[in-house]
Amino acid sequence: MRTDVVIVGSGLAGLTAALHAATNGLHVTVVTKSMLGGSTPMAQGGVAVALASEDDPALHARDTLVAGAGLSREEVVGVLTREGPSRILELIGRGAHFDLDDQGNLALGQEAAHSRRRILHASGDATGAELMRASLEAVRRHPRIHLREGVFVCELLVNDGQVMGVAAPGEALVASATVLATGGVGRLYRYTTNARESTGDGIAMAARAGARLQDMEFVQFHPTALDAGGDPLSLITEAVRGEGGWLVNGAGQRFMLELHPDAELAPRDVVARGIWAELSRGQRVYLDARKLGHRFARRFPTVARLCAEHGLKPETDLLPVVPAAHYFMGGIAVDARGRSSLPGLWACGEACSSGLHGANRLASNSLLEALVFGARVGDDVAQAPPVRPLAVPALRRAEADPALEARLRELMWRHVGLVRQEAGLALAQRELEELALPPGSSEVCNMREVACLIAASARARCESRGAHYRSDLPDSEESWSHRRVVVEQGRVEVREEAARCAS
Ligand code: SIN
Repeated sequence: MRTDVVIVGSGLAGLTAALHAATNGLHVTVVTKSMLGGSTPMAQGGVAVALASEDDPALHARDTLVAGAGLSREEVVGVLTREGPSRILELIGRGAHFDLDDQGNLALGQEAAHSRRRILHASGDATGAELMRASLEAVRRHPRIHLREGVFVCELLVNDGQVMGVAAPGEALVASATVLATGGVGRLYRYTTNARESTGDGIAMAARAGARLQDMEFVQFHPTALDAGGDPLSLITEAVRGEGGWLVNGAGQRFMLELHPDAELAPRDVVARGIWAELSRGQRVYLDARKLGHRFARRFPTVARLCAEHGLKPETDLLPVVPAAHYFMGGIAVDARGRSSLPGLWACGEACSSGLHGANRLASNSLLEALVFGARVGDDVAQAPPVRPLAVPALRRAEADPALEARLRELMWRHVGLVRQEAGLALAQRELEELALPPGSSEVCNMREVACLIAASARARCESRGAHYRSDLPDSEESWSHRRVVVEQGRVEVREEAARCAS
């Protein structure tokens, strides 16, 4: 089958790219291995955007650079913050509804590490679901966008270094432009807030095709996933702590008071490691939001519903929490137009790494990233020259192997998670490499490939920075603020970069 643009992945970034490419007159096919939506509908947090009169894109950029801990690329951050307001207005034009204040204006919330009120929400804590609803309706109405569910893409079609589409069992989609929008890697970890589909497929495929990857050591863990069973775990948005929720251990102590002046509102990685330390001591950790009383259900209807599914009432019960893999800052290296190192291949959303988030993503920046850079990709693919069809390899999908997957996720959680050190990373890398994989293409094969690259990149960064914390090298080193860990043709290398941002 031939099309102008094939997009793998149907979250907000993929659908935004599809809408822009189709508006530019291209025929677009969006394929997804399960059902439309990706992880986006699970996003409770909001969209950060400089819309208030006392705000400015430059202030939003400054906050993003500080969170990135010296590794964010300033020009990419500038694009996000300057183009963000137009993308939000575009989305409102497509019918998205954001929460309004008493005067009927967009309600702009405040969040830790944002210096101004700039967080838009929809229905309190259902922002991702609303953005997907509006985007999916627009995509379904568009005559040049063809949606296909249940297609497991195994490999990129590559000829002489040029990407020419994708191959799935029994079929190929030949395209002038191939866009990977396959989301993140949360499923590599025992505990995650991500959808089951977040197995790093696009990143693994791009790596096998020889595309450059970068920043693979940076995995962000959310401090408060509801530890009441389920896989993925339900997220409890950090806005609950913003509204006064406290963290206590089994003895009722507010342990964050001793760890950081901002206590529960300290940066996400600090809070997550504080909880990890308590759990490692055999304590359970709870979020105490009882003081919000009946306000809780009004302000956080999604979280209240998720708690109720586990028989918990936030107004009377302590909520057991555990940190969980939440967002991947690494991925397929792209420029500000979403172009990868391979001609014919673009990437957007969590699958890509443009250097926007640096070593740590500022909360509520990822939905905006999907909108801004999805749109840029959709505009840029119009430049792709046509390609000729080529011979397609015969591909087979292997059976799922839940035991193998569980072993991999446990190794990553224990040794390549929140707190790392050389011996554990080396052990994990060795054991991951030795896992006996079933023949054929499979998610667990992609997970193993990406897991090995995360472990190797974490070993290569000999310091702690942002979300990458090594207990054997706990300090950030000035010399490492100019170094990026990249994967080129499957090899992990450390590259010097010009210093780019103020912290
Ligand atoms: C949250 O609301 O805690 C998550 C939001 C985000 O990760 O950006």
